[in-house]
Amino acid sequence: MKLNSVVTKLGATILFLQLIILIPLGYIIVQIVSNYSYNEVESQLIDLSRKYAQSFTSVNDQHAWDSIYTYTEVTGMKAVLIDPDGRIISKAGLSELKEEGLSTPREQSLLKSGTPINTEYINNDTQYLKVAQPIMAGSTYTGSIYLLSSLDSTYQSVYNITKLVILASIGAVVLAIGFTFFMSIKLASPLLQMEKATKRIADKKDFSTRVTYKGNDEIGSLANAINNLSQTLETYQTNRNEFFANITHELKTPLTYIKGYTNALKKKLYQSEEEKETYLDIIEKETNQMNNLMDDLMDLSKIEEGKLNLHKEDIDITEVIDMVINKIMIKAKNKGITVSYEAPPEGVVLYADGQRMEQILTNLLENATRYTEKGNILVRVFKHSKQIKITVEDTGIGISEKDVPYLFERFYRVDKSRSRSHGGTGLGLSIVKKLVDIHDGAIEIQSKLGEGTTFILSFPMDQHK
Ligand SMILES: Nc1ncnc2c1ncn2[C@@H]1O[C@H](COP(=O)(O)OP(=O)(O)OP(=O)(O)O)[C@@H](O)[C@H]1O
Ligand SMILES: [Mg+2]
Repeated sequence: MKLNSVVTKLGATILFLQLIILIPLGYIIVQIVSNYSYNEVESQLIDLSRKYAQSFTSVNDQHAWDSIYTYTEVTGMKAVLIDPDGRIISKAGLSELKEEGLSTPREQSLLKSGTPINTEYINNDTQYLKVAQPIMAGSTYTGSIYLLSSLDSTYQSVYNITKLVILASIGAVVLAIGFTFFMSIKLASPLLQMEKATKRIADKKDFSTRVTYKGNDEIGSLANAINNLSQTLETYQTNRNEFFANITHELKTPLTYIKGYTNALKKKLYQSEEEKETYLDIIEKETNQMNNLMDDLMDLSKIEEGKLNLHKEDIDITEVIDMVINKIMIKAKNKGITVSYEAPPEGVVLYADGQRMEQILTNLLENATRYTEKGNILVRVFKHSKQIKITVEDTGIGISEKDVPYLFERFYRVDKSRSRSHGGTGLGLSIVKKLVDIHDGAIEIQSKLGEGTTFILSFPMDQHK
């Protein structure tokens, strides 16, 4: 256990708290007990002496003395009868006591004046409590009775209590040390495990590392946080690896074509001028494909890093759509697809980046044209409960339910070869989704395989910020 560990600190705090509570508490207990037993002995002795003094008719009352004598024999108490001149008349249980100093002249004069004596007194190295009462015959002072009780047993019980308190304190300290040790195992071991895990994650980049501690306390939530972190890093690592694999693949395919056809041209492996033109067209198409891929990747990385600056202003979204429809119209016409457009004649104002809106709609309309063989594409703009909705509906090949959740992932294509033959890389929808997000909008897909697809965009109406 390290000296500066949390557990040592906790143990030291517990010990310190125990000591500052136990020391005064023990002292108070000992004081209370010793005062109580001393007061008990004292009040008993005073009561007895008063009772006996009253039982004497005179200092020579043999009958009264007899009863005191019997009592001293039973209890071990000492009694002395003193005449008015201060001389000892009778004594009981005094064998081990020296007589000198038993009764002082000062005490005698006090007793004569009717004042009882109550004092501590040491005889033969033993401490006694000495109590004396005057014996009166009517109003005449005839002598006094002294009672002495050893304080040994009182001190003995105080000593015993003190011993008990000290023992209990040592017991508590031992318990505290035991508790600290127990806590060190309970507390420190998951913390050490977490330290090891985080080092493994940071130094060895082993993102599959997990902490096994399961508890619903603060340490448990720290363990959870570490596990979440490594999980996120693991996903990030997998995504990154997949991403690089995808890019490499996407670049390799057009490069293989370009290399192959350039070689064919160089070696004049064509039969006619027409064939040569076809080769050149392919090279151009593949170069464009690479160019588009680069543009898309640049856009994605800019959005993901939050570096894409939006130039938001009030735009008429119906005009933007008009322009995009015009752009794809030729492609659609060539495929025999009709494009219809429904929009409010007064236009719809949206606070957005016009260029990015155009990018979103171009992607959606290009997809609609690309993945529709016959029928029509319908674009609609309308306002609906404080939202501006844009829908792009086609009668194309549709998307199966199982593919829908992955459409916004980078490089995801339902039919790779089909998409590729159209020049697609599978980045379009992931860019669309991110652009919609940074405009505080939402995108939804409704599709039925073989029947068609509808993309629904929603943007908040009053988004001026
Ligand atoms: N309107 C649609 N109808 C049917 N399938 C669609 C439609 N739009 C998208 N898809 C499917 O979703 C996939 C992902 O679309 P996305 O736009 O991201 O990529 P892409 O069109 O293949 O390539 P590009 O990066 O050039 O856009 C497509 O490959 C296609 O399989
Ligand atoms: Mg696309």
